[in-house]
Amino acid sequence: MITSVKLHNFLSHKDTELSFDNGVTVFIGENGAGKSSIIEAITFALFGKTTRGAIEDVIRDGETQAVTQIYFEVNGKKYQAIKKIHGSTSPQELLDDNSLPIAKGKEKVSEEIKKIIGLDYDTLGIASIVPQGQLTEIIQSDNGIKLRSLIDKVIGTGKYSAAEKGLGEGITAFREYLTEKYNNTDEDVENVQMEINHAEKIIANSKPQKEKLEEMAESFKEKIKKLQEKKEELSVNYEKIIHLKDKEDNVWKSIKQEISSLVTDNEEHSKIIQRCEESFGVIKAKSKIEDLLNSKNSKKKDIDQKISECDGKLVKYNDRKNIASNIEFSDGECPICHTKDVTVDPEYQIEHIKQELKKIESEKTSLAKESSNMQEQIDEINNKIKDVEYAENTIKNSPIKNSKHLEDWKNDLKLNQNRNNVLEKIIESSDLSPKLVEFMPNLSQTFLDIEKLQKEIKDFKHEEYDKVERELQTVNSENQEILMRIGQVAEKINSADVSIKKNIPILEEIKLAKKYVENLEKIRTSIFSTKSETIIGARNFAVESISRNASQYLEQLKTEIKHLELFQDGTSIKIQCNTNNGQRPVKNLSGGEQVCVALAVRLGMSDLMIKSSLKIMVLDEPTAYLDKTHCEYFVDAIQQLTNFMNEKQNFQFIIITHDEDIWESAKVGTIYRFTATSDGTEVSRL
Ligand SMILES: Nc1ncnc2c1ncn2[C@@H]1O[C@H](COP(=O)(O)OP(=O)(O)OP(=O)(O)O)[C@@H](O)[C@H]1O
Ligand SMILES: [Mg+2]
Repeated sequence: MITSVKLHNFLSHKDTELSFDNGVTVFIGENGAGKSSIIEAITFALFGKTTRGAIEDVIRDGETQAVTQIYFEVNGKKYQAIKKIHGSTSPQELLDDNSLPIAKGKEKVSEEIKKIIGLDYDTLGIASIVPQGQLTEIIQSDNGIKLRSLIDKVIGTGKYSAAEKGLGEGITAFREYLTEKYNNTDEDVENVQMEINHAEKIIANSKPQKEKLEEMAESFKEKIKKLQEKKEELSVNYEKIIHLKDKEDNVWKSIKQEISSLVTDNEEHSKIIQRCEESFGVIKAKSKIEDLLNSKNSKKKDIDQKISECDGKLVKYNDRKNIASNIEFSDGECPICHTKDVTVDPEYQIEHIKQELKKIESEKTSLAKESSNMQEQIDEINNKIKDVEYAENTIKNSPIKNSKHLEDWKNDLKLNQNRNNVLEKIIESSDLSPKLVEFMPNLSQTFLDIEKLQKEIKDFKHEEYDKVERELQTVNSENQEILMRIGQVAEKINSADVSIKKNIPILEEIKLAKKYVENLEKIRTSIFSTKSETIIGARNFAVESISRNASQYLEQLKTEIKHLELFQDGTSIKIQCNTNNGQRPVKNLSGGEQVCVALAVRLGMSDLMIKSSLKIMVLDEPTAYLDKTHCEYFVDAIQQLTNFMNEKQNFQFIIITHDEDIWESAKVGTIYRFTATSDGTEVSRL
């Protein structure tokens, strides 16, 4: 039961403290007086939730903090739940009898309270503290699931569910263990079996495939062996062909080398021959040139002799000229002895001397010219002699010493030029004619080899060799392909084998595990599940009992509906209303009738709820839709119920209502009057 509630700055309340007894407590007051705020304060203290909007909206206007606090008793134990709002924080606490904390914070407190009273915020709203306007919610058909879960809570299936959950967790943990150890669980029996079957099928299919491939590989081995033998046989000649080709290539190479060296030699030799031939020509004229030089030299000597004679004469006549000019005769008288009529030797006559001197001068000039002319000729001849010396030197340093040598060289050159021509023609014709040996005797052995090889390979068929070679290649690559396929099939068989070996022990284990889990599941579904026979039986009992009680209360409310029947339909609980004229769905009832039915159902459930923990029912405006007569019936019903309940155990009803008169005159339990004042709600006990 809830023993008291305190509100500080909560909604319309500034500071309100209310205490509750067993039995019925009625809140009366006008609209907005602050009645429903008490219910909000209770759920706020227990679960930190209200039907109002945001958390800060519940703080009384103009204030910054609010506190709600309730004291309640469950199974003889006292508790205290406090919820505060302090600026942005909203601490919540659950305390025990000695004000020691049991839980702190919204989540932990809610969880703890759920354990203590057996209801969470949502189910509390249906079963115990019914907010304004939600009274009929319980009978709405879409709430059938909620109703069932509520009934389940009332009849205590929670413990069964815990066992079911525990078994479920046990199975999960067991499966985790199986996964860790075998990578498979009891749920995989079929899959593992299929995997094994699949692997066995693979092996069954692959083995004959492998054998067939191996047979093929064997026949390929044989084929390859034969082709290789054939190839080897043909290879002897094939190698000879290659050998022959090498030799021929070498011959061509030698010919080309020979031609190239012949060209160089011939050029050089023809130069030597030409040089020597010219030199011999120059040397041949040597004695004639020398004779000519001698004669020219002696001629020049004569001329020079004559010139010097002329010089002697010139001296002599010049002397005479001097003498003649010193001795001047006048009238034939000697200037020295003065002899008269002296006749002077013409040799000493000056005129004569002058003529002689002129004559000698002229002779000397012509002789000098002749001498210089001669000297030029001599110089020319000397040059020729130098040419001769050069030619002699050339011959001295050349291999050709005489005309015989020259002739031999010329013949040799001719032969070599001829050889060159022949070789070039051979190159042009690309025919290695044996006559080549005449010109290149060093190749004679090679030619013999070539001839021999040619004879040996005469019968070799190149196409045959190529064909064998091609066939061998094809067969080899086909063989490779088959070997690869054998490898693949072997791998397939091997991995299937590995899979079987791995899976067989796993299968045994998970089969056992399956049996074990099946047994657990059987226990779970048939005993502990919400669908189990045990629970369905217990629920049927509860539903029948609620139906019976509700029908009784409904009878007291005196409506058209005579009888109520609750029944299980799948996962929900449905309600059927019976009138004197037959069945009527809840939806078709009037608003007042719906309130009566809802009240009857909630009150009918209360019988069972005596066993539930909080033992309180708060009804906010339950009579809103009821007319005066039905209100009176309702008050009677509550009174009877309270008496009945309090005979067995304490139970609280809190009724919030506008209908003061009815409750006042009925004199049922404690009545609190709520009044709205400028300083917040005021509450007074009547
Ligand atoms: N934060 C707030 N501070 C002050 N007053 C508030 C606050 N929030 C709501 N109120 C007012 O508090 C008053 C009490 O509301 P409450 O729901 O408890 O009234 P009531 O007695 O149940 O009325 P009714 O009979 O109409 O259901 C209302 O007038 C409401 O407007
Ligand atoms: Mg209200």
